[in-house]
Amino acid sequence: MSEQPDFRPGPLDRSATTYVAGHRGLVGSAIWRTLEAEGFTDLVGRGSDELDLKDRSAVLAFFEETRPRHVVLAAAKVGGILANSTYPADFLSENLQIQVNVMDAALAQGVERLLFLGSSCIYPKLAEQPITEDSLLTGHLEPTNDAYAIAKIAGILQVQSVRRQHGLPWISAMPTNLYGPGDNFSPTGSHVLPALIRRYDEAARSGAESVTNWGTGAPRREFLHVDDMAAACLHLLEHYDGPEQVNVGTGRDATIAEIAGYVAEAVGFEGLTEWDTSKPDGTPQKLLDVSKLAAAGWTSQIGLREGIASTVAWYREHVGHLREAG
Ligand SMILES: NC(=O)c1ccc[n+]([C@@H]2O[C@H](COP(=O)([O-])OP(=O)(O)OC[C@H]3O[C@@H](n4cnc5c(N)ncnc54)[C@H](OP(=O)(O)O)[C@@H]3O)[C@@H](O)[C@H]2O)c1
Repeated sequence: MSEQPDFRPGPLDRSATTYVAGHRGLVGSAIWRTLEAEGFTDLVGRGSDELDLKDRSAVLAFFEETRPRHVVLAAAKVGGILANSTYPADFLSENLQIQVNVMDAALAQGVERLLFLGSSCIYPKLAEQPITEDSLLTGHLEPTNDAYAIAKIAGILQVQSVRRQHGLPWISAMPTNLYGPGDNFSPTGSHVLPALIRRYDEAARSGAESVTNWGTGAPRREFLHVDDMAAACLHLLEHYDGPEQVNVGTGRDATIAEIAGYVAEAVGFEGLTEWDTSKPDGTPQKLLDVSKLAAAGWTSQIGLREGIASTVAWYREHVGHLREAG
């Protein structure tokens, strides 16, 4: 096969079978909505109860039966700091199995375009800010989620290796922190933003006088709405071709205190926010450099304040029947 993958930028064939792995998750469901809205007519998805992606022979059989031409790999075992640091063996093993099975099956069927999704935790703990793609593998990882990060780094290497050995134009994207409809709001498994939404919403409903958050509120974090993420994924599938993973973010960060303020405003909480400074802050800043994405022609559209307000509205509509796992 040729060294250079045969890729021409432009619209994907909307009638081609397109498999979204993890289509019920935060990211996968947003990608599904976006592809549907963009006119894709043959989307395929399977829940983990129908197809366990750890089951190699079932995955190979599924690909042989459905023969997708495009694949978005948004299935993964995902969790917050607590879950990651308590179950590192599960995070490493399950994510490696899912990725290897899906990519091997996709290779066996000659899938033309595959997008592998990782996470910004692949970058070294002390990477220079904003974090550029080429800081990958230049330093030690954050120990609390190193097992997860190593699995994701292996996924990037698998994409690069398939490109090198087989010439298929597969790509990888590394999103920053995401939020939006379909997020995991469970008290044990959730990330910072859904945890804040749940906490402030409960406080607003119960008429609490104050809310206490961990740390000082000073750390800076970047958040991207999942609908923006999904739009970026489609854009990359249609316009980007290269071995290097592409960071996907807004390029702007905010302090946790500012973010908490947007959440309080969105839920209508008028009490006090207090900061438990005996609790750790974590890393002072985490911001992706998104110039590669911008050079590929995409920038985010949904502002943080507006995105938080619409996510709060979604949360309130669904609060009785949210996912509690994780
Ligand atoms: N959330 C974030 O802030 C964030 C940030 C950066 C990157 N990402 C990346 O985006 C990807 C998706 O994350 P997410 O936030 O959408 O996670 P999520 O909401 O937990 O969704 C994960 C999906 O993976 C599926 N899945 C997990 N194990 C499976 C298995 N053994 N067999 C079949 N399906 C399985 C689940 O299927 P069922 O629902 O059917 O069980 C679920 O739909 C991950 O690679 C993650 O690293 C997420």
